Amino acid sequence: MTREKPKNLWLSRWGFILAATGSAVGLGNIWKFPYITGEYGGGAFVLMYLACILAIGIPVMMTEIAIGRRGRGSPIDAIGRVVRENNGSPLWKAVGGMSMLAGFMILCFYVVVAGWAFAYTWKMLDGSLAATSVEALGGVFEAHNANPWQLGGWSVLVALLTLWIVAKGVQKGIENAVRWMMPGLALMLIVLVGYALTSGSFSAGFGFLFHFDASKITGEALLAALGHAFFTLSLASGAILTYGSYIPDGQSIARTTFMVAICDTCVALLAGLAIFPIIFANGMSPSAGPGLIFMSLPLAFQQMPFGTAFGVLFFAMVSIAALTSAISMIEATVAYLNEKHGVSRLRAAMVSGAVLLLISLLAMLSFNLLSGWTPLGKNFFDWLDYLTSRWMMPLGGIFMVILAGYALRGEIMRDELDLPPAGYALWLFMVRYVSPVLIMVVFLHALGWLLF
Ligand code: PHE
Ligand code: NA
Repeated sequence: MTREKPKNLWLSRWGFILAATGSAVGLGNIWKFPYITGEYGGGAFVLMYLACILAIGIPVMMTEIAIGRRGRGSPIDAIGRVVRENNGSPLWKAVGGMSMLAGFMILCFYVVVAGWAFAYTWKMLDGSLAATSVEALGGVFEAHNANPWQLGGWSVLVALLTLWIVAKGVQKGIENAVRWMMPGLALMLIVLVGYALTSGSFSAGFGFLFHFDASKITGEALLAALGHAFFTLSLASGAILTYGSYIPDGQSIARTTFMVAICDTCVALLAGLAIFPIIFANGMSPSAGPGLIFMSLPLAFQQMPFGTAFGVLFFAMVSIAALTSAISMIEATVAYLNEKHGVSRLRAAMVSGAVLLLISLLAMLSFNLLSGWTPLGKNFFDWLDYLTSRWMMPLGGIFMVILAGYALRGEIMRDELDLPPAGYALWLFMVRYVSPVLIMVVFLHALGWLLF
């Protein structure tokens, strides 16, 4: 059987690395990682998270890129081709379908959080964050969310920007955007870390992030750490697989995977190191939940020299990081419609955008009109987050490694990964034994079927 010809490819050697890092580095690092680390109690959680990145995240990312490049298409099509090449069951395509759905569902709540970041860049400038206490800033955050037009307007803006970039295509849209946004992001991050180093105390944050307390290792925390490892690396959501399908032959999958994973982990740890000292310095609780960075940081910025300028820089950085992630969440769907149903990318973006706006509307309304609607104790926004991170992504991941480790003929993956024998053996050992067993254990434990 002849290999599928790529319809789209990254233009430059850096195309994939920039786009995949853009996908990985996002609200997961700057918004979610600090607040869930706060909720689950610091060091022990960080350790579990790092273990999941190494033992599961990296092998799964290599697998997804390899399948994407081998099958040259959206998750459903790429998996379908790779499996056909192997005379396997077309049922595997369901794993691609679930990934695509997960990416889409994440975007439905992600636009709301990204909207917060955009709105706060603006609010930092126009003086609405000039309150003098954390309580008052909490009030500003609540007032912002209580107004569906305000909250919705910013979220819709993010959605439209995302769709516009994706509609323009892989090279002209996505690659063009990340080519200037990612260097800009790196620069902003360096400036902000330097600023935090000189004007805040790192030790409090450092202690919280790295102080290990074994009693904080619980099944619930482990499931959260596992889910976050998937979320932060954009795995099992169609993003990395689809971006991987645009990598030219011959580029090393292992090397790019490590680069993306290291960048992503560093940004998360830096964000934690920059944010927690500020939180402790202001006597706030690290477990304030999703509003954490929006309530604590504006106050801190006000008390620091040139705070307004750096506050604007900070929220602008978060906005850009969010945008480069958002585009990757819908790329799988657009690629799928474009390839499978012959719809132009523009129309594919418009159709999926319409569905996106409809569903994300429910996520926006979770903070105001529908805040009382909490089936089984979670509002719609929380459900989207919970279902994707805790269940769909780890489940997609386990199927992905079983597909690659057991169902596919060895040469397919060996060909694509093109590793030295020891490296390949290590990858195979991880996807056969370590990753699936760990994911299983975490699942069973979370379901209460394993006692330890
Ligand atoms: N990795 C992104 C972040 O950390 C989120 C993401 C999830 C992006 C799934 C794409 C797909 O913010
Ligand atoms: Na991330």
